[in-house]
Amino acid sequence: MQAVVLVGGEGTRLRPLTYAIPKPMAPLLGRPFIGWIIERLRAAGVDEVILSCCYLPEAIEAHFGDGSEHGVRLHYAFEEEPLGTAGAVKNAADKLTGTFYVCNGDILTGVDLVGLRDAHRAHAAIATIHTRRVEDPSQFGVVETNEDGKICRFIEKPKPNETTACDINAGTYVLEPEALDAIPSDQRVSIERETFPRLIAETDRVYAVSTRDYWIDVGRPQTYMQAHRDILDGTFERPLGREIRKKVWSSDGSAASADVSATGPIYLGNDVEIEQGAKIEPYSVLYDGCRIGRDATISASILWPNCRVGCGASVRDAILGLDVAVDPGATVHPGSVVGRGERIGA
Ligand code: GTP
Repeated sequence: MQAVVLVGGEGTRLRPLTYAIPKPMAPLLGRPFIGWIIERLRAAGVDEVILSCCYLPEAIEAHFGDGSEHGVRLHYAFEEEPLGTAGAVKNAADKLTGTFYVCNGDILTGVDLVGLRDAHRAHAAIATIHTRRVEDPSQFGVVETNEDGKICRFIEKPKPNETTACDINAGTYVLEPEALDAIPSDQRVSIERETFPRLIAETDRVYAVSTRDYWIDVGRPQTYMQAHRDILDGTFERPLGREIRKKVWSSDGSAASADVSATGPIYLGNDVEIEQGAKIEPYSVLYDGCRIGRDATISASILWPNCRVGCGASVRDAILGLDVAVDPGATVHPGSVVGRGERIGA
């Protein structure tokens, strides 16, 4: 079976991190974010994945290549201008041969993909949408269904009193090739706002499968941090690498990492150096090549590769992008998101 993974968005909500690398390449405990999606697709029997690229595609292609290291055949569909979430699927149409999955490239979910496909077949649907119940659906696309799961209305970001439904579009779909006929070529089209409402109106064959599986949209700093926490806690999957001591994971399991004084759950990438007296507190993630100086404190923060934190500095509840330098004695306060190569003075 085939899948299209949408990885072309600019990821504006994750700026400034996404000025340097596209959101799907953001590191997540042992592999880039879309590596988790590709792995789940592979485990569900998908052997061919089309990555639908637009923003900074070189970084994605350079890492994933033809997919042979990831157990799937990978193809790329490039857009010169963003075509939107449906236009991007249409742009991959010449590579699609049968029923296929579509996955948003920023959703981490434990949904049973095989179950979704089986339900799709049982309904003889043209489109099946994974939906998930949330308490506040106002920021999402809300799906209203009848008793057998057939979708009767699709409301993007509903206003108060517009609907009582709380099942949202969770960003994983199974589509038939005929669904592509509802998407005009070579123009920007939204699958949520245009294609699904049109298919619902014209075919009466659009179904929802509602689950309570793990689900998070990692597209905001808070949710990107939450996804790290959920994996470190074992709520969803486990970090890649070795648990070198209780709740301390290391990507290379190196001896250097074993000497570190740190309280889990934490994750250390390759070649991380931590000097004496530094404190690494729970939910901290130090990716490859980070250097932490004497008596510095890192707490509940994510440091992308090659960050330098000087002696006595402190970083709490923050995300530091690639190559950030925090000077000795400086403080990075909670909620900070620092872009590539910035220097935080004392
Ligand atoms: P924000 O700018 O922060 O909203 O993020 P985003 O650009 O990723 O947009 P959004 O979260 O709405 O996109 C959902 C998914 O669709 C993501 O995986 C995006 O990469 C992808 N996507 C959005 N627009 C396009 C597009 O025009 N082309 C392609 N190929 N993918 C897109």
